[in-house]
Amino acid sequence: MNKAFASVEQLDINPSTIFIPDNEIGKRVVKDLKNWNPRIMKTIEEVTDRLFNEKWENFLPDIPSNFVDIVITSPVYNVSLGNNKFRDKNKGYDSCDDNMPYEDYLEWMDKLFSECYRVLKPGGRIAINIGDGSNGSIITHVDFSVMMRDKHKFIPITTIVWNKKQIGGSTSWGSYQSPSNPSFPTPFEFIIVMAKETRQHVGDASKISVSGKDFQRNSRALWEFPPETRMMELYGHPAAFPEELPRRLIDQLTYEGDVVLDPFSGIGTTCSVAKQMKRHYIGIEISEKYHNTALQRIGKIPTITEKIINGKKVDIPDWLT
Ligand SMILES: C[S@@+](CC[C@H](N)C(=O)[O-])C[C@H]1O[C@@H](n2cnc3c(N)ncnc32)[C@H](O)[C@@H]1O
Repeated sequence: MNKAFASVEQLDINPSTIFIPDNEIGKRVVKDLKNWNPRIMKTIEEVTDRLFNEKWENFLPDIPSNFVDIVITSPVYNVSLGNNKFRDKNKGYDSCDDNMPYEDYLEWMDKLFSECYRVLKPGGRIAINIGDGSNGSIITHVDFSVMMRDKHKFIPITTIVWNKKQIGGSTSWGSYQSPSNPSFPTPFEFIIVMAKETRQHVGDASKISVSGKDFQRNSRALWEFPPETRMMELYGHPAAFPEELPRRLIDQLTYEGDVVLDPFSGIGTTCSVAKQMKRHYIGIEISEKYHNTALQRIGKIPTITEKIINGKKVDIPDWLT
């Protein structure tokens, strides 16, 4: 047996099915094989219009580059959800912690932004819903924005302030009625909106869904609607956003038929709105419980096919075909 085959055996490749010559080229092949870390890439068809019960860290690296039109997501906020003195301990997440060391949290998000950038089309957008921590003293939305712009080279479009209209009831005073150390509870959150490579997202004008009135309202970067307070009761999730949030983003920033990705898809709010609005969706969620809820929720939304009948566009739900 020659030397090249001895190396191949070490690689656990059956020499009867592969011939590698014992020369310089053979040596290079053996070296490449040793360094080869095969990842089976999924196709676009395999991943669209589906929800995955996975960690995004494991899933995203296996999906193709440059095909997503928008990422709409709300990561865990790292605010110790369900584990602070104002909350019931049972109201935390089902399958993950929400209290990493802040540096680790940013490093984790850094990897997410990098993957999101890769999978987005040039002209694709990313919209990150996030709240600051500790009554505004942990400036998460600023750290995210700077990292996204300076390190990942996303182009800023806007930062929307979502006024949740939840004033009153708060007892987080810091030093009450004293300037010594007052607290500033935050009844608002942010939606950071940025683009990959260009702010232009070209599409078919006949696939625009937003009305003139909604376009004007959405253009003002102060959005006012209440949070979804019944999500725990209805779906058992402690931090789902209301459908209004992805609905406005999808309407304002995408065309029908675009692909919407949510790597923290929870109970599937983004994906179910995307499906309702005739966009394609991809959802990734670590918790089996939330994933199953999302599957049921989305299963109830009919798939709409557009047909031309008597020269007019008509939406036909799948149960009619
Ligand atoms: C703020 S919630 C998002 C809720 C979602 N917007 C909705 O309306 O249902 C964050 C979600 O991320 C999930 N999650 C945490 N770590 C994850 C990971 N590594 N990969 C995928 N999902 C994860 C949590 O289980 C939680 O459901």
